[in-house]
Amino acid sequence: MTLCFATNNRHKLEEISALLGDNFTLKTLKEIGCAEEIPETRDTIAGNANQKAEYIWENYQVSCFADDTGLEVDALNGEPGVYSARYAGEERSAAANMKRLLANLEGKKNRQAQFRTVITLALDGVYHDFEGIVRGEILTEPRGTGGFGYDPLFQPLGYDRTFAEMPMDEKGTISHRGIAFAKLIAFLKSSA
Ligand code: IMP
Repeated sequence: MTLCFATNNRHKLEEISALLGDNFTLKTLKEIGCAEEIPETRDTIAGNANQKAEYIWENYQVSCFADDTGLEVDALNGEPGVYSARYAGEERSAAANMKRLLANLEGKKNRQAQFRTVITLALDGVYHDFEGIVRGEILTEPRGTGGFGYDPLFQPLGYDRTFAEMPMDEKGTISHRGIAFAKLIAFLKSSA
């Protein structure tokens, strides 16, 4: 089965390709002739994942999947959510985003939060969503040098280390994205 992964992140593509095995061929956006930026204008994480998969299916008629992720903080009514990448502005700086998050949480007792990933699969024009959530808390200062984004501030429930203090494969087994991709892979393998 040939599928396009609607991402420009080469690292994500290689990782998923290895997990899917030989029955699946993953194509990049470039390989299907998509060089333009895919619109991501909806106001929910699931909406953006849906929008990206729909765009590829409708414009290229290639079965595909797309993912979208956000950090949802309880005391901030689910913010930054769909705006996680540009919380502190269009320059998408992880350091500035973390600074803004810490400022907005100052004085708040409840620091519980979750990462949510939604993957939309468009398989021959039929859409399926897969969700992964990991609960945790936002620390008062960053810890660790691994990972990316909000990782130095996020300590998953039941752990005494942040995502930025974990080896990548350990994070991958418990993370929002890891959970969502495991569901996608199980579905694809069962329908191959
Ligand atoms: P994307 O949808 O995977 O591009 O994620 C959107 C934004 O959410 C990123 O720019 C990061 O700010 C944040 N984010 C997504 N996944 C993670 C993660 O695993 N750790 C920390 N931050 C993340």
